[in-house]
Amino acid sequence: MADAPKLAFAPFAKVPKGVLILFCEEGVKLGPATRKVLAATGDLVKRAAAADRFTGKGGSALDIVAPAGLAVSRLVILGVGKAGKLKAQDFVKLGGAARGKMPSSAREAMIVAELADGALKPEQVADVALGLRLRAYVFDRYKTKRKEGEESPAKTQVTIAVGNVEAARKAWARSEPVADGVVMARDLINEPANILYPEEFARRAAVLKKLGVAVEVLDVPAMKKLGMNALLGVGLGSAHDSRVVIMRWNGGKKGAEPVAFIGKGVCFDTGGISIKPAASMEDMKGDMAGAACVVGLMHALAARKARVNAIGAIGLVENMPDGKAQRPGDIVKTMNGQTIEIINTDAEGRLVLADVLHYVNTRHKPKFMIDLATLTGAIIVALGQEYAGMFSNNDQLCERLSKAGLASGERVWRMPLGPEYDKMIDSKFADMKNTGGRYGGSITAAQLLARFVDKTPWVHLDIAGTALGSPQTDINKSWSSGWGVRLLNQLVMDHYEK
Ligand code: BES
Ligand code: MN
Ligand code: ZN
Repeated sequence: MADAPKLAFAPFAKVPKGVLILFCEEGVKLGPATRKVLAATGDLVKRAAAADRFTGKGGSALDIVAPAGLAVSRLVILGVGKAGKLKAQDFVKLGGAARGKMPSSAREAMIVAELADGALKPEQVADVALGLRLRAYVFDRYKTKRKEGEESPAKTQVTIAVGNVEAARKAWARSEPVADGVVMARDLINEPANILYPEEFARRAAVLKKLGVAVEVLDVPAMKKLGMNALLGVGLGSAHDSRVVIMRWNGGKKGAEPVAFIGKGVCFDTGGISIKPAASMEDMKGDMAGAACVVGLMHALAARKARVNAIGAIGLVENMPDGKAQRPGDIVKTMNGQTIEIINTDAEGRLVLADVLHYVNTRHKPKFMIDLATLTGAIIVALGQEYAGMFSNNDQLCERLSKAGLASGERVWRMPLGPEYDKMIDSKFADMKNTGGRYGGSITAAQLLARFVDKTPWVHLDIAGTALGSPQTDINKSWSSGWGVRLLNQLVMDHYEK
């Protein structure tokens, strides 16, 4: 795991050193502890704010180097706008923005977690800490040299000054596992495919055993026996064997039906015989982002001892062109006995998911299944990188996910399914074909998945746009966002823990 900045909580009385970060509301309104810290600086803030026309609007900052009267290198006041409007999401972003104001060379920093009418609530403090962790993430394990002035974020000791240290620590203990889960997902996605192939991915998922997660790995003979020929067909061209990993966290009532999360884990997608063009093909090391999210989520649930029974299942393959690779025109029989004609070997994710969805559905009889997959380029065309595409057979599950999306900031947008679209994947030679033509590419992909889920409430999230090449935000500067861990953790917390 990437180095995390060292984080501690302290009472407001602690003397600040290094970089000092304070919050203020619109009208440069400061809290009592904040004013106390600033007492020795006289009218410095007032003058600096006037000179910079800083009023404390949300997203604005007043930056003062070597402020007279304080033994700190830098004083930064972050505007939050009107405090009454702030949601959990805003505190996460605030933490990210605060971290962004700490130069990587800074040894020490302090954030005073207070607004005009007093100390932040423990949950809000934990949200600030979460944003801090996510913003600090860098993937630098393959850098053998650092540029001058570039330091590991682990070198900054960050103290958050709070009203109630014990309560802040407790709240952070509940959300730190989620931060760790996101970091774990980002790390897996950033890892190159020469290092992270199916077997190695399975080994890394198996580390969850340490947290009490039961981990079962299906190898090629086991999958052959089960008849998972759609998944196995995708891996035929690879020198690396395919794997399926089933993780189970039993934190809920004994025997209660589990919730299930399923991830596409294509460790590298060349397209196979229907090979992709060279431009940006390197990004296809991230075609396992769905699987990475499932592993990160299972980590979060187990580490915070979530009171839920949860299954995480990931289909791990590498899609390569080779003399042994599957061809366009080939017909494969899936685990549930249906046949698929391969039109394009680059439409491989749905083949992997078809078998894993059916396996999970029949073996584990889940309450619902949610799959995550970097499934289609078409979803990026449709929704860009702000919303993931959501396809489902169940309105209630969609509503819950939409709400969890707004609360966590990982948003989903529902797309249609229906018999007219389903018809588009009927095949001349088999039960179905693996592509449905140029129109509605994300929908026809989802229709294929739908043929493997029966009546079980199910959501498919197409995360091709949200998981990779993410836009830079206050809480993410990495190519991989770790998208989905916070969304699904939120869903479980809101509805499935008792
Ligand atoms: N992994 C890709 C989808 C993808 C594209 C993910 C860009 C992330 C960024 C998927 O396996 C794929 O190749 N889909 C094809 C399907 C087509 C052949 C029907 C696509 O989207 O072009
Ligand atoms: Mn593909
Ligand atoms: Zn793919």
